[in-house]
Amino acid sequence: MIIRGDLVHCLGLGELEILRDHVLVVSLSGFIGYLGAAHSPESNEILNASEPPIVLERGTFLVPTFCDLHLHAPQFLYQGTGLHLPLMQWLNEYAFKAEESLDADPALAERVYTRLTERLIENGTGAVLLFGTIKVDTNLILAKVMQRAGIRAFVGKLSMDISSRPTYVEPSASTAISSAISFVGSCHSMVAQLPAHERLVEPVLTPRFVPTCSDDLLRGLGELASAENLRVQSHMAEAHDELDFVRRERGKSDMEIFAESRLLTPRTVQAHCTFLDPPSLTDVAKSGAAIAHCPLSNAYFSAKPFRLREALNLGVKVGLGTDIAGGYDIDMMGCMRQAVAVSRMREGDRIMAVAEGRRGQDNGSLAVDWKEALYLATRGGATALDLPAGAGTFAVGAPFDAQCIQLFDSSTGSSVGPLDFFDGTDRMWLTLDMVEKWWCIGDMRNRLAVWVQGKQLWGKELGSRNGIQPIASSV
Ligand code: GUN
Ligand code: FE
Repeated sequence: MIIRGDLVHCLGLGELEILRDHVLVVSLSGFIGYLGAAHSPESNEILNASEPPIVLERGTFLVPTFCDLHLHAPQFLYQGTGLHLPLMQWLNEYAFKAEESLDADPALAERVYTRLTERLIENGTGAVLLFGTIKVDTNLILAKVMQRAGIRAFVGKLSMDISSRPTYVEPSASTAISSAISFVGSCHSMVAQLPAHERLVEPVLTPRFVPTCSDDLLRGLGELASAENLRVQSHMAEAHDELDFVRRERGKSDMEIFAESRLLTPRTVQAHCTFLDPPSLTDVAKSGAAIAHCPLSNAYFSAKPFRLREALNLGVKVGLGTDIAGGYDIDMMGCMRQAVAVSRMREGDRIMAVAEGRRGQDNGSLAVDWKEALYLATRGGATALDLPAGAGTFAVGAPFDAQCIQLFDSSTGSSVGPLDFFDGTDRMWLTLDMVEKWWCIGDMRNRLAVWVQGKQLWGKELGSRNGIQPIASSV
């Protein structure tokens, strides 16, 4: 596949790049094989010699798919309800029941997970780190459905052996560990026959959080992670009621317990971490573990915003997560906007504290801007997950995981979806302002297509035959 048009990606934090009128060649196995300016001799050769390219109109561009770094797949069942309770009560009254109902009903699990894949893809999410349920078979359904849909999915069979509903808990640490081993083996076997680039699902060790995991279970999972170099995910330092519970029951912090169990590794993603102070964030950075920042769910459960700017300044790998259903919005566009809004509220507090002489040491602005949020939702998440080289950007050798965004329809001259342009923008080359406008107010109507590993999963069939006009001139 050859695509000619504008590309937008973030190479690093705050390093957004617009590549105008470029040619991108995607290999049959779904990797970017060539990327160059359309007017270069190499691109000309490709354009003249090969199959006709897909040509993106003015105001249409590619951006990498989003990476959702924290989502509870079974909780999609009750997305958008029941957020009036504090975390520990919400888990008992909503989360555990919903997860148990999927473990009891494979047909329901298949239905919920299939719909989840459709929602993820139409919202531009190409990679997702998932929490599942306790039962191995239900997690295999989740893995199968994700693989079939073509989403890059990291599937976590939950491990939890204490302090849950009596009917939704594993009977002992040793059975929980055997069950985790069985899931890892079955999930690997599910895709073992496929060529490496088609293996989209991978298992993740998933101790739910400290309150529901005994020390024996955590230590066992830590050993397993280290012996098999497995990925790990959990929740850490999320909410005031959770912190109190752990202090009371264990006399330590979440982070001490995870560290002692060897569960803070470069292959670990910890959700939330809202209660970590800068010294603890420094320790997370040293461990190589990443953090999934979930701003919407934090607003309901955490009683405190995550120290995002400090984490980034300290070198912690950070991505964004929707935390369905602790967060009700599956759209990563919403998640990016929430991350920026929360950071600006924090910055407002800082400004007032400085003005009123309440702030001692001051390391500058706590605000995060839209370009940084776009980095976190794409390249940041890909880095946190250690996806293949270049993932989350457009680069030769990277998997082609992309979404096509349309700002206006040049055949009709009108803007698309919620966007309105009044200044002749529709005749101009893509600018930073236009991308920002999409970032702020764009929605699903602006999404024309979604690809993962070069395969189109959703949207219009794009092509030079489909009324899409070639770009008239080069920059
Ligand atoms: N901590 C432990 N389990 C959960 C969960 O399902 N959602 C959230 N937000 N936090 C948790
Ligand atoms: Fe969560």
